[in-house]
Amino acid sequence: MGINKDSIILTGDRPTGPLHLGHFVGSLQKRVELQNQCKQYIMIADMQALTDYFKEPAKVVQNVTEVVKDYLAVGIDPEKSTIFIQSQIPELTELTALFMNLVTTARLERNPTIKAEIQLRQFDDSIPAGFLCYPVSQAADITLFNATHVPAGEDQAPMIEQTNELVRRFNYTYNTDCLNEVELLLSNTPRLIGIDGNAKASKSLGNAIFLGDSPETVHDKIFSMYTDPNHIRVNDPGSIEGNVVFAYLDAFHPDKAQVAEWKEHYQKGGLGDMYLKQQLCDVLQNLLTPIRERRKTISDEEALDIAIAGAQAIKPIAQNTLDKVKRAVGICYHSS
Ligand code: TRP
Repeated sequence: MGINKDSIILTGDRPTGPLHLGHFVGSLQKRVELQNQCKQYIMIADMQALTDYFKEPAKVVQNVTEVVKDYLAVGIDPEKSTIFIQSQIPELTELTALFMNLVTTARLERNPTIKAEIQLRQFDDSIPAGFLCYPVSQAADITLFNATHVPAGEDQAPMIEQTNELVRRFNYTYNTDCLNEVELLLSNTPRLIGIDGNAKASKSLGNAIFLGDSPETVHDKIFSMYTDPNHIRVNDPGSIEGNVVFAYLDAFHPDKAQVAEWKEHYQKGGLGDMYLKQQLCDVLQNLLTPIRERRKTISDEEALDIAIAGAQAIKPIAQNTLDKVKRAVGICYHSS
């Protein structure tokens, strides 16, 4: 099912760093589009970030502001999209606790996304319970606001599956229909690779171009991009496969025919890496300059105030759903 004006989008990011071009092509552009089509809630998942960064809470808190600024800079409009901070809605934690009884640790350990993340972090046998259980908390994020759709990449599909399992288990266990299943709105843009050729651009790998990067930093990152190590002289034939400059040209150059022509020329030989990097630099500076300029006009206080107002605006929805949930479970007490 597609999106219509009654759809409710729930999406968000962990504030573990400012946002980068990977976020821009992967989700931010889509959100700017979606906010004109239906309701959209954008959560800054600080509690989820803490499952990873619990020893550095200040880093998480600081990045909340950065993320809000990135949202506003790319054109997310707080009049159309509700931006809010996860920890400001404690109802989420209550729903998470109720969900926790409805899933086994074995099921969580089988979640492919979590499995990959655990491996990446080399937790071995010391997996923090908070980390293992974050899909449960994510299920609460999605269901508490009655979301109908979650836009995400294929890697988030197991999270949606886990969410819907919890919804069905909850409704069945408490004989209710107060929670709704949700649909993954699959993004068709391929994931942006890192400037070093790594499969993923990310803050932790240090291989991303941030939306707030200075023109000089953007330039230097582009000119450091990994290309084809066998393309030594301009006249040597070059390879497109794994070539970061072409991956970025594919993702950002508006003229696809031009990029196709360059690819052919490059493969035949006679097209230099420096020339292509300069072309890419022009495109990315054009894209990033207005974003950077807009970002500079937003103060930290202004950014934070917008997110705080967002939480206030959607709190009634959270309270209403939680109220229904607790009634369904039967844990309501009234003094006589
Ligand atoms: N897991 C997302 C991330 O890694 C953040 C997130 C938290 C989220 N809760 C969500 C995304 C609910 C979509 C829906 O950045």
